[in-house]
Amino acid sequence: MVISPNGYIAREDGSEDWLPEEGWEEFVKLAKNLNNVVMGRETYTQVTNRYKDYNFDSVPCKYKIIVTQNKKFQAPNGYRVVYSPEEAIQYLQSEDIENIFLIGGGKLNSEFMKKGLVNELQLTVNPYIIGKGRSFLAPANFEMPLKLVEHSELPGGRIKLKYIVHKPKH
Ligand SMILES: NC(=O)c1ccc[n+]([C@@H]2O[C@H](COP(=O)([O-])OP(=O)(O)OC[C@H]3O[C@@H](n4cnc5c(N)ncnc54)[C@H](OP(=O)(O)O)[C@@H]3O)[C@@H](O)[C@H]2O)c1
Repeated sequence: MVISPNGYIAREDGSEDWLPEEGWEEFVKLAKNLNNVVMGRETYTQVTNRYKDYNFDSVPCKYKIIVTQNKKFQAPNGYRVVYSPEEAIQYLQSEDIENIFLIGGGKLNSEFMKKGLVNELQLTVNPYIIGKGRSFLAPANFEMPLKLVEHSELPGGRIKLKYIVHKPKH
């Protein structure tokens, strides 16, 4: 996820033009390497409607999964629609995908996190504050201890942070 220092991923209307193009390019590279991406229906709709020539259609990975609760939602060829985080995981694991790449948005992120389905977190903090917007995590009742395993500075004053979710041993 690419976030503002105060934890937003898009303006309230869903626009992301305050983020540099490099963030999208890094996302595409990761999706290509992992050969999959899982997204909330709202992320799919916003990005597809806003960026006609520059959206998930052109992302070079085999598995593009849209999570929705709406049984009537239809996606074009090249996407698979599922109805829960668990179904997304089960499907990708059945296709031998090892590392499942969740790209959000914030509502779906929280759904995965509160169910304990996230092992690793990659954030890029972009040096631009928007005072209100769509949060990287929708408010929900969960906590997640993290261990920082990587940090680096990217061009444009962006900071990349990689965490693993610290799960207590039983
Ligand atoms: N900066 C970044 O890195 C970044 C990354 C990704 C997205 N974004 C931005 O984030 C915004 C969208 O984020 P968002 O938080 O508003 O929405 P979102 O998380 O992308 O999508 C929310 C939708 O996902 C579906 N969903 C969520 N939890 C579910 C569950 N447990 N089971 C089944 N379906 C579930 C529902 O779809 P239905 O309503 O269809 O049932 C829900 O309305 C967009 O503007 C996008 O551009 C930014």
